[in-house]
Amino acid sequence: MSQLLFTKDTQAIFWNNNASAIQRMLDYDFVIGRKTPSVAAIVAPTADSKFQKFFWGGDEIMINLYKTTAEAKKAHPNADVLLNFASFRTAYDVTMEALDLGGFRVMMITAEGIPERLARKMNATANAQGVTVIGPATVGAITPGAFKIANIGGTIENIVSSKLHRAGSCGLVTRSGGLFNELSNIIAINADGIAEGVAIGGDRFVGSVFIDNLLRMQDNPQVKYMLLLGEVGGIEEYKVIDAVKSGKITKPIIAWCIGTIAKHYSSGVQFGHAGASANAERETADAKNKAMAEAGIYVPESFNDLPNKIADVYNKLKSEGVITEIAEPEIKTLPQARKSKNFICTISDDRGDEATYAGYPISSVATPETGFSIGDVMSLLWFKKRYPKWATNFIETVVKTVADHGPAVSGAHNARVTARAGKDVISSVVSGLLTIGPRFGGAIDGAAKHFKYGYDNGLSPAEFINHMKKEGIPIPGIGHRIKSLRNPDLRVSGLKKYANESFPSTPLLDYALEVEQLTTSKKDNLILNVDGTIGVLMVDMWRALDYNDDEIDVFIEAGALNAFFVLGRCIGFIGHVLDEKRLAMPMYRHPFDDILYDVHKAEDL
Ligand code: ACO
Ligand code: LMR
Repeated sequence: MSQLLFTKDTQAIFWNNNASAIQRMLDYDFVIGRKTPSVAAIVAPTADSKFQKFFWGGDEIMINLYKTTAEAKKAHPNADVLLNFASFRTAYDVTMEALDLGGFRVMMITAEGIPERLARKMNATANAQGVTVIGPATVGAITPGAFKIANIGGTIENIVSSKLHRAGSCGLVTRSGGLFNELSNIIAINADGIAEGVAIGGDRFVGSVFIDNLLRMQDNPQVKYMLLLGEVGGIEEYKVIDAVKSGKITKPIIAWCIGTIAKHYSSGVQFGHAGASANAERETADAKNKAMAEAGIYVPESFNDLPNKIADVYNKLKSEGVITEIAEPEIKTLPQARKSKNFICTISDDRGDEATYAGYPISSVATPETGFSIGDVMSLLWFKKRYPKWATNFIETVVKTVADHGPAVSGAHNARVTARAGKDVISSVVSGLLTIGPRFGGAIDGAAKHFKYGYDNGLSPAEFINHMKKEGIPIPGIGHRIKSLRNPDLRVSGLKKYANESFPSTPLLDYALEVEQLTTSKKDNLILNVDGTIGVLMVDMWRALDYNDDEIDVFIEAGALNAFFVLGRCIGFIGHVLDEKRLAMPMYRHPFDDILYDVHKAEDL
């Protein structure tokens, strides 16, 4: 049996952030009680944000935005439908790229006016790969109760009144989207609705044609009979006639070709669709209606008679027991007024009986017997993942290593001076924290960023040093006021030892150590310092944990690496402030003799 077009689990990647169409899909999902949104991801090449909020019933959900189809597909491999809402200028490239990527089962192309030569090439490529293309120039398709593309079926009210919220018995294929909606309504009134429906599109060269869709419906057990609305022009209807005659299609078909009016005009008339023009007698609506009737297809006298024909076939199938009564499902209703939320939180939730850290109730991580350490809590709240022991041990080693470095360092000094000015613990600690920056404790992000750049771009250590010189930036993570080759920083030795013993590999540390060999050969205090060691090892850790470059870059840009120093050094600053308070030290004033005064009388201008 061929695959069903869509199921309740089908998910799509939506190319172009067409928010209102996507919202309609999600409203439909909600009303029919889907568990997952039918749109898994959006490709929005020019968007700056990473997600877009949509309503899910009265609530809101976030759908991720990606710059390319490749990124979206990589992040959502299960999404096997591409909804290509690119303009006619871009739609071809988008489709071809997606075909090249693979992993898509169905592609729908909405653009009208794709050059015919390109449309043919696109369709042939898809066909060769067994990909079903719906369109171009279409509103799409629907499997009621499972999945609906964008605007097909219209508003939710119209969808429910046309019974498009749950599966009926008819398989509907049209060219036109407008008439698709009209017919869905007629079928809902005269029968029990549709099981699957496709508007194949109005262009001359569309991907899947009538016969492709009808053959799939023949294999779909939910479809009991089919309705084909053809139109003047082309010979696709004859393929259906052949399939009926050869017995490939056995389910009853009702069919009508619109455009019978064309004979009343003196010359060939071009109707709305690019394909709707008869180039030969065989292509006229009358000829096709006649041939279909002769093949045993149910053809009404006129379009006006179509509803009666539908009722006849439906009632016949019902009396034969082929169609049984459908139990109407409960429909969820959308709230009248919906309010967009101002804040989004993805790390913790305090709404239940107990607050959670990335899904873990606090009681399951807080006490010793839970086995969770502070490194686990950090990985949950900072990175929303539970890291393996070797990584949380590293995080804790970092925090412990940077907790303090004596009273003389910039931050501790400031915290102490502030405490002695009579300020409280919070103010004093914050003054210490505000001192953390690119020269003191805050070089970790910079070190990660620049060493990563050098390594990933294949710069030799010497080239890297030159590159940084040209940029005019002292290499973050290199150099120390008092530590040097002769007075090594044992904190760095400890971190390197831990990494060598516990990390799967340390390529960026190895690279930074080669750089250090060159810088220390110039001046022996230009060592890889504690900030630099932490920076490169964090990148090594994340790479070993399978984070990709984009994710790591986001951490670096956000300042996540300096945050390890901030957290750790807070412990030390608090210690220094409490020390000052305990000692009840008086206000500090810097001695005159430690300041070089070089002040002259200001010139009068
Ligand atoms: N990259 C390249 N050259 C450097 C670097 C560096 N990171 N640091 C110093 N140099 C060079 C200077 O250009 C200077 O060269 P010159 O003698 O030819 O003029 C020489 O080394 C001495 O420079 P100073 O600024 O006097 O070095 P100092 O020992 O005072 O500076 C400091 C120490 C501030 C840490 C410096 O090395 C630096 O800015 N490093 C980068 C920032 C950094 O990693 N900070 C974190 C330190 S660890 C911590 O705070 C926990
Ligand atoms: C620190 O950790 O604070 C030190 O490495 C900085 C310093 O100046 O010693």
